[in-house]
Amino acid sequence: MIGTGRSSRAWFEEYRRKRKKADEDDRVIGAEDGPKQGRARSRSFWSLLAAFWRLADAARPIFTFALATRTLGTLIALLPPVLLKALFDSVLGTDPLPAWMPLPHDRVALLWCVAVGLALLPFTATIVGLWGRWKLTKATRIMHAAVRRRVFEHASRLPLHRVQRLKSGGVTALLREDAGTVSDLTFNLFYNPWGAIVQLTGTLIILAVVDWRMLAGGLLVLPIVWVTHRAWIARIRPVQRDIKAVKQTTDAHATEAFAGMRVVRAFSRETGEALRFTRRNHFAARQEILAWWWSRGIEAAWDFLIPVATACVVLYGGYAVLGERLRTGDLVMFVAYVTMLLGPIAMLTTSATSVQTQLAALDRVLDLLAEKPEFADERSERTVDRSSVAGRITVEHVWFAYPRGAGAKGESAEERWVLEDVSLDVPPGSVVALVGPSGAGKTTLCNLIARFYDPQRGRVLLDGIDLRTIEPASYRRLLGIVEQDVFLFDGTVAENIAYARRGTTRGQIVEAARLAHAHEFVERLERGYDTVIGERGVRLSGGQKQRIAIARAVLADPVVLILDEATSNLDAESEALIRESLATLMRGRTTFVIAHRLSTVRDADRIVVIDGGRIVEEGTHDTLLALGGRYAGFLARQLEHAPVSPPVADAGEIGAARADG
Ligand SMILES: Nc1ncnc2c1ncn2[C@@H]1O[C@H](COP(=O)(O)OP(=O)(O)O)[C@@H](O)[C@H]1O
Ligand SMILES: [Mg+2]
Repeated sequence: MIGTGRSSRAWFEEYRRKRKKADEDDRVIGAEDGPKQGRARSRSFWSLLAAFWRLADAARPIFTFALATRTLGTLIALLPPVLLKALFDSVLGTDPLPAWMPLPHDRVALLWCVAVGLALLPFTATIVGLWGRWKLTKATRIMHAAVRRRVFEHASRLPLHRVQRLKSGGVTALLREDAGTVSDLTFNLFYNPWGAIVQLTGTLIILAVVDWRMLAGGLLVLPIVWVTHRAWIARIRPVQRDIKAVKQTTDAHATEAFAGMRVVRAFSRETGEALRFTRRNHFAARQEILAWWWSRGIEAAWDFLIPVATACVVLYGGYAVLGERLRTGDLVMFVAYVTMLLGPIAMLTTSATSVQTQLAALDRVLDLLAEKPEFADERSERTVDRSSVAGRITVEHVWFAYPRGAGAKGESAEERWVLEDVSLDVPPGSVVALVGPSGAGKTTLCNLIARFYDPQRGRVLLDGIDLRTIEPASYRRLLGIVEQDVFLFDGTVAENIAYARRGTTRGQIVEAARLAHAHEFVERLERGYDTVIGERGVRLSGGQKQRIAIARAVLADPVVLILDEATSNLDAESEALIRESLATLMRGRTTFVIAHRLSTVRDADRIVVIDGGRIVEEGTHDTLLALGGRYAGFLARQLEHAPVSPPVADAGEIGAARADG
């Protein structure tokens, strides 16, 4: 996947070639192998605008208010050049004031009026503008939070295999940057351009009233501006989108490298990882410079256009004044208005730059929001609760393959079956042990029972009700899951245990911890149950984490309990200790237990041997032993390998078969 051999320059040159070709179909070229993310096609400007308007729902009245104040402020700001005309023609010159100007005719009084007007008008315009701006800023911040919340909620409801593919870095980048910048569109898409348009139109109208030929000149500039702008958008927007994509992968890989730093160190790959990171950053830098050239090029063109236009006005107007077809005041006013054309155009440029980035961000946010959440196609409306549920779990002829994208590519579902025609009926409160070699599909079966996925064929039922028809959240509240890899949040021990249930008391937490044999070691921690664990705090051993997870499950008081190698990180001694607690925990609950140690398995009501995604044997410890099949084979091998007699009676590892995984 990662060719560190290629320099960022070669990569970039290839990128530019691809970009040229891709311009026609507006593809994203992010990662090294281009079309990987190429499916995403950017939406048209208008559909983005409409989508933004929908996202902004609550803020719309404030938008309108802000645009109104902006209009008023801009119009007030348009008045000063008119005062200049009065100054030149009626104070300094001898012309009478035009009839439409409601100002005194006395020259000194008029001078004062002009001076006061010149001082007060911009100030008033600013106050009016600020008022609307403040309201809009508030609305924008609220929208900012709302969009981020929507993205967060949506991302957390996506099917598991999608969440895994989005990778931690990818989601955070989306949340941190994209979802955040979307709200800034209020300014760059509405507020600022609107002000610019009002100012532009106002200026052009005044120019037309005074001298229509001047307007014709002004209008000549506009198509040039429009054409350059279009060309620029076409170039810049795709590049900016690509930059985002590259940065996102770069960040995701960096996050990953740090998460896997032990592995990186173990294989002395620090230099390699750093090179990879640097190369990606260099590539992004080259892309950014490309984008920089495009935007600065256009700006330079405009910087040249505007002075030329001003010079033309001065020439034309100067001739007109000399030929006495125009007053001096009119010419001064003209030049003032022509420079006022500059402002809106500059504003449109800067807005347009940010708008491109932000529209690209909006596009990506919409891509995410358009993804179907988990079980969107199912009508999962029935709610279940503890009191009305017995806890019978039935698996009926289930066939399952992991969704595409999560596993190997290029094979059809049939070739990737992880479970094939699995059937199982587990009465309420009984314990089923799942046994089999690594990769057999034990965890997968539990994933279906927990409804992390739905099977492609067959059904999983709770008390005879298809899980598909049950509201997922209400079903999962009945579950308790302890896995081999325990995930603990940054927080205190107590918070981590209480994660299973809201509104628990310290007493309940301690009781649960006692049952899980976690209490002893938690007590010995520096701050007991208030010790912060996880990334920012104390590191716990694998066994300690598992005991916390077991305490969590105890507290959850589940109807259906899944113990997926829940004790694998415990040494035989601690396991013997908590075996009792687990026995208490399992009592009265439908339990699925996956364990490699015989001791955990032999007391189960039923033992199910799975291999290659199929159930190959089923029965109690004694019947299976008598059968002399796979289970008996496991046992024999285990006793053979039985290490220096563990303290647990006749125990060892069933999974000598584990060696292959
Ligand atoms: N999230 C996943 N995406 C794709 N394939 C998976 C995923 N999890 C497991 N598998 C595959 O499914 C098969 C069964 O895995 P699993 O149920 O974890 O086995 P077990 O728990 O019995 O060791 C394996 O071949 C594994 O590669
Ligand atoms: Mg497993």
